[in-house]
Amino acid sequence: MNLFIYHSPEETPTTQMPECAIAVDVLRATTTMATVLAAGGEAVQFFSDLDKLVEVSEKFPADKRLRAGERGGAKVPGFDLGNSPLDCKREVVEGKRLFISTTNGTRALQRIQEAQTVITGAFVNLTSVVEYLAQKQPESLWIVGSGWQGSYSLEDTACAGAIAHHLLEKTKLSIDDVAGNDEVIGAIALYSQWKDDLLQMFKHASHGQRLIGLDCHEDLKYCSQIDTFDVLPMQQEPGVLKRHV
Ligand code: MLT
Repeated sequence: MNLFIYHSPEETPTTQMPECAIAVDVLRATTTMATVLAAGGEAVQFFSDLDKLVEVSEKFPADKRLRAGERGGAKVPGFDLGNSPLDCKREVVEGKRLFISTTNGTRALQRIQEAQTVITGAFVNLTSVVEYLAQKQPESLWIVGSGWQGSYSLEDTACAGAIAHHLLEKTKLSIDDVAGNDEVIGAIALYSQWKDDLLQMFKHASHGQRLIGLDCHEDLKYCSQIDTFDVLPMQQEPGVLKRHV
C-alpha cells in the first residue's frame, strides 16, 4: 500500500489516479454525506457547479430529491438545505437523493472521481473507512483534504492523519512501508497532538472560526464526534455516492 495525502484538491495530481481515493471535508460536507446515508438517504449526488446541480436534479422526481447548496459556509438562497449535518434528520432525508454543491468538498470529490474506488471520510465514520481500507489494502491510496479555496485546512489534514494512524495500527504496517509523501507523517503528527480534543482544534481552525461566526457551534461539536455512524459512502456511478454494503 502506497499512501499519499494531499491537503487540497488543487495540490492533487491530475495526470494519474490511484486505486482508491478518499475525499475528506470534516467541516462539513463529508460529515453531512455520512449523516444523510446513515439516516436512510437513497444517494448523495455531488456537483461543483450550482447551475448544473439544478439542471440535473430537475430531471429527478421532486418528491424524491433534496437540493443542498452552500457557499462561504452559508445556505444558498432557494435551496432546500445548506450544508449542516444537523438538518439531515431521518424524517427529512429518508428515501431521498441529496443533490449537493459546497464550496470545497464537492470540488475535492470531483477531482478524484476517476479513481477506481472513491469514498468519503470524516471523524463521524472514521472506523468504517479504516476497516474498509485495512481489508482491501489498495495498492495506491490517496486521501484528499478539501481545504479552503486552495489552501490548507487543519481539520481535514487531522482527519487524514487519523485514517492513516488507525490504518497502520490495524494492519501492523510501518509508516515507512506506507508513506508516499511527507504529508502522511505530518498529518499523523497533527492528529496525535489533537486527538483528545478535536473540538478545540476546530475552534482554532480558520473554517471553524468562520462557522462560529455563522452561529454554527453545534455543527462543530457534531463534526468532532468519532464513529457516530457505521457507514461508508462510496461512488457507485460517476458523481453518485451510496452506502457501501
Ligand atoms: C466546503 O465544502 O467548503 C464546506 O463543507 C463548507 C461548509 O459548509 O462548512
